[in-house]
Amino acid sequence: MSQSVIKQDIKRIIQGLGNESLGLSGKTLLISGGAGFLGSYILSTIHELNKKYSKPCRVISIDNFITGKKRRIVAEIVDRNFIFIEADVTKPINVKEKIDYIIHAAGLASPVYYQKYPLETIESAIFGAKNLLEIARKKSVKSFLYFSSSEIYGDPDPNFIPTPETYRGNVSSIGPRSCYDESKRLGETLCMVYHSLYGISVKIVRPFNIYGPGMLQDDYRVIPTFISQALVKKPLTVHDLGNQTRTFCYISDAIVGFLKVLLSRENGQVYNVGNDDNEISMLGLATIVKKIFNGKVVIQTIKYPKNYPQEEPKRRCPDLTKIKTRLKYRPKVDLEKGLRRVVKWYRDEHII
Ligand SMILES: NC(=O)c1ccc[n+]([C@@H]2O[C@H](COP(=O)([O-])OP(=O)(O)OC[C@H]3O[C@@H](n4cnc5c(N)ncnc54)[C@H](O)[C@@H]3O)[C@@H](O)[C@H]2O)c1
Repeated sequence: MSQSVIKQDIKRIIQGLGNESLGLSGKTLLISGGAGFLGSYILSTIHELNKKYSKPCRVISIDNFITGKKRRIVAEIVDRNFIFIEADVTKPINVKEKIDYIIHAAGLASPVYYQKYPLETIESAIFGAKNLLEIARKKSVKSFLYFSSSEIYGDPDPNFIPTPETYRGNVSSIGPRSCYDESKRLGETLCMVYHSLYGISVKIVRPFNIYGPGMLQDDYRVIPTFISQALVKKPLTVHDLGNQTRTFCYISDAIVGFLKVLLSRENGQVYNVGNDDNEISMLGLATIVKKIFNGKVVIQTIKYPKNYPQEEPKRRCPDLTKIKTRLKYRPKVDLEKGLRRVVKWYRDEHII
């Protein structure tokens, strides 16, 4: 990922991590989902850090490209410390090297894709986690990071918004979103079982709507959808009345949060990662995108499309007290600025 917007993001991530990033020097990281949106930012960050380290970080990235894009990473990271394996993390994995860190970021993150691939969604969250936890056990890793989701809270009781990590969730086990929500929940349980049975140094993150450059039109999450519609002067299509709310966290802030958690000392911990500053309705989000395009696009409310899972949560906003106080995490990029960066990236890259 050599583009200027992304290069600046990586610089900010490295600044945000400060000396904490030294924890990766001379170590080996095994990551699943390395070709995904979040995974490729993690790889690019380590690739840049390796230019400074006297002892580089070795990376073994596993992705089956069910949604990830090969060109995102393989074409652009030229680093002999990186190994890219095209494989399914739900199948047995044979790793000979010593491994220090494991990140399980493989998954079907976009609602359109988890509706299309419900079994793969369940398997990557659970069998993928089990495979990697077994490697963690055999290799006695320093730290294991599991990517869960804010979706594990389901449609939170309004008394629990902003939502703290202690909230137990309001989730259906048989609904249209259950393949994602419930498998992430069980994935978390597996991690905690491995932590208590075998003392594995697990940490869990629950990301709240991360966005940024690198999310392509065919990702179908709301921000790339609005921006790609605006770029071709199509109406911004807002589902239903557009009064469902979310908070959005720019990628450079989120990656600092994820790596801080990976490198933190306390095990068996779970952290919300996001930005608590900007709970906004989808109509409000479309209005900001319209402003960025100088008002030259229209906003249109539409019925939920068939390929989009029903029963989406009405509100979502993280309580970030835990990560802010324990790990000094501070999201910095405000929503409009972040959206402008994504638009610039789309334009620079002639994506549309
Ligand atoms: N981006 C967000 O806002 C967000 C929010 C909550 C949770 N998460 C979680 O974070 C993780 C990364 O999210 P993302 O936004 O980068 O998603 P993404 O879809 O961009 O990337 C996920 C990657 O995992 C790969 N993958 C899926 N199943 C696999 C398997 N069985 N074996 C190997 N590779 C496989 C895909 O090909 C893809 O490259 C996911 O687990 C997701 O559920 C992300």
